Amino acid sequence: MQSDEIRKRFLAFFEKRGHKIIPSASLVPENGPSVLFNTAGMQPLVPYLMGQKHPSGNRLVNVQKCVRTQDIDEVGDNTHDTFFEMMGNWSLGDYFKEDAIKWSFEFLTSKEEGLGLDKNRLYVTVFEGDENSPKDTEAFEIWKNFVSEDRIYFMSAKSNWWSVGDNGPCGPDTEMFYDVTEKGLGDLTKEQYMEADNKQQVVEIWNDVFMQYLKKDGKIVGRLPTQNVDTGSGLERVVMAVQGKDNIFDTDLFTPIMGKISEFTTSSNDRAKRIVADHIRTSVFIMADGVIPSGSGRGYILRRLLRRAIRFSDVLGFKPGSLFWLAE
Ligand code: SER
Repeated sequence: MQSDEIRKRFLAFFEKRGHKIIPSASLVPENGPSVLFNTAGMQPLVPYLMGQKHPSGNRLVNVQKCVRTQDIDEVGDNTHDTFFEMMGNWSLGDYFKEDAIKWSFEFLTSKEEGLGLDKNRLYVTVFEGDENSPKDTEAFEIWKNFVSEDRIYFMSAKSNWWSVGDNGPCGPDTEMFYDVTEKGLGDLTKEQYMEADNKQQVVEIWNDVFMQYLKKDGKIVGRLPTQNVDTGSGLERVVMAVQGKDNIFDTDLFTPIMGKISEFTTSSNDRAKRIVADHIRTSVFIMADGVIPSGSGRGYILRRLLRRAIRFSDVLGFKPGSLFWLAE
């Protein structure tokens, strides 16, 4: 299944379940300068998660362009990129944990309507509880209807709490991981699962956040007016799982640019090739949303990406002027 089919299936699956399809917002946020780029599908929806009525209703779905540069030094490994597309569905005070979890599972595993992924390669984490919010036994009980209990792990707020920064909506989450090893790892203890995660043998493919709390200056200060669901599923990683690859650069999202790079170099430095591919892709999408290279803010991020792309293309021995051909 190609990436385009995956996007279409995601939107159709949730449209059938009462969600309105909304377009991706620009990478450049419209609601004030709190972040340089949209980093998640929920970001343009913050006012609505905080209680404002959305013109398209209280069930939404989209595929949002995102840029995250905090992991820029990880790019070149199997799963990190600076530009990605996030498939997401939202409940603004409508359905909650039961439907959110059921639909995530159904979309991942259904052959007819979803991706037909193997449920025996699926692992799930849920929030273990802390002073801000109780242990999420409710999510655990719901998950038990779909995956065996020994594949569900309770984790701390470090991994299973999501917020967009120090201010705004937030909540505990449940995350889905997929085993991308050739033979499959089978049942894992929590420690084995954590080790497999570190080795990128299992990768996070979806996050359902149960947004119920408000954060101010880094502290939880109360509840939101409504209980919301904010889900996010990274398209690149999902495509990798569906296409049976162990890295995002071997999926149809990247093979055209990786193929072009191979025309310009005989080097076997995969890390450098991946960095060039990622940074040019991100730069193109940033420029398409109206940003030009400069010495500060968004323009500086773009300049930095281009500079790194040039540096690594030098490592690969590209002739000057070659990067231009990757933009297309
Ligand atoms: N906001 C959450 C995330 O980015 C879920 O969409 O992972």
